[in-house]
Amino acid sequence: MQLSRFNADLFLRDHWQKRPLLIRSPWTRWRNPLEPDELAGLACEEGVESRLILRDGDALRLENGPLPESRFGDLGSGPWTLLVQAVDHHAPDVAALIEPFRFVPDWRIDDVMVSYATDGGGVGPHYDQYDVFLVQGLGRRRWRVGPKCDAETPLLPHEDLRLIADFEATGDWILEPGDILYVPPGYAHDGTAVGTDCMTYSIGFRAPSRAELVEGWAEHQADALAEDDRYADPDLNAQPHPGEITAPAIDRLHAMVLDALADRDAFARWFGLHNSLPKYAEADWRPERPVGRDMVSALLAQGVPLCRNPASRFAFIRGKDGALTLFADGHGFDCVGDSAALAESLCAGQSVAVDPGLAGSAPVLTLIAALIDQGSLAFEEDDGSR
Ligand code: SIN
Ligand code: CO
Repeated sequence: MQLSRFNADLFLRDHWQKRPLLIRSPWTRWRNPLEPDELAGLACEEGVESRLILRDGDALRLENGPLPESRFGDLGSGPWTLLVQAVDHHAPDVAALIEPFRFVPDWRIDDVMVSYATDGGGVGPHYDQYDVFLVQGLGRRRWRVGPKCDAETPLLPHEDLRLIADFEATGDWILEPGDILYVPPGYAHDGTAVGTDCMTYSIGFRAPSRAELVEGWAEHQADALAEDDRYADPDLNAQPHPGEITAPAIDRLHAMVLDALADRDAFARWFGLHNSLPKYAEADWRPERPVGRDMVSALLAQGVPLCRNPASRFAFIRGKDGALTLFADGHGFDCVGDSAALAESLCAGQSVAVDPGLAGSAPVLTLIAALIDQGSLAFEEDDGSR
């Protein structure tokens, strides 16, 4: 599916990370990509993150998945909503919804959460830390959007949900199938199903917190530091007050920390690895036995396309002279020449047709075999599955 009435450049200029936007169905043709029953089935699966939120008068109650199948039979007639995380990992048609939004780089994309709600169901007024495109899939939903919130915004006392206490809407719309609401980080929003069979697809983004970056990078660097790499003061002079930690000592200590964290190239590699770690590793594609390079070569020569594990995160960072490092599922691969070109095409789409002429390229075979062995990649079967 494609967005035909949408200008990505103008959107990025005027709305991305700035202010909400209601986009009335911009699709060439909208088709709801998942049936409610399929979503319910996923919510019963071990390893799939799901939540059920039931409305009881003014109160909301949370139940975490996986849900027993029988739960759907005894929900009663009150409003409820089911939310399932990372549905794109399980349903290719849902994964295809991300494609039109790839004017935002892949490393910023998180997953597609899908919700189903009965009349009046919703998660209540809240704000998220991330940008989101809320695509109305099936049925109708009333969205109310409020002002930007922060850590000072009063919340209602609730054990499980972060609900805004005095939600006041500045925008109020009914979304029909195919309509999209973009909400930047921090903006209050509240969606309530109008009528039954309301499905909403949340294309969610990620933005690392400074705390996550500092903690991860510092820990990574610290692991490589030697025990005897420590503070030294062979130039020490007697100081007037033995109780003082002097400014020069602080400068030297501070520099030790900053120097250890300053290597930009090493940071780039660490970040590539960190960002490519799979959030949900439920789909294990690792073959029972390592795939040999001969097998890879034979299948490439036959023109069999490769497909990426939908749960795998692929990205690359350019180096010098056409070299690049490919990251997939927490592993980094240094690539040049043919393998660099292959790495770029692997990062371009879920399915990759490889030039059969590369069946004799040792670096290409090594890269593909390693990615297959770690479960990030597989050869497609005739029917398009793997
Ligand atoms: C929903 O689909 O009901 C909730 C999505 C959101 O508010 O982020
Ligand atoms: Co939200």
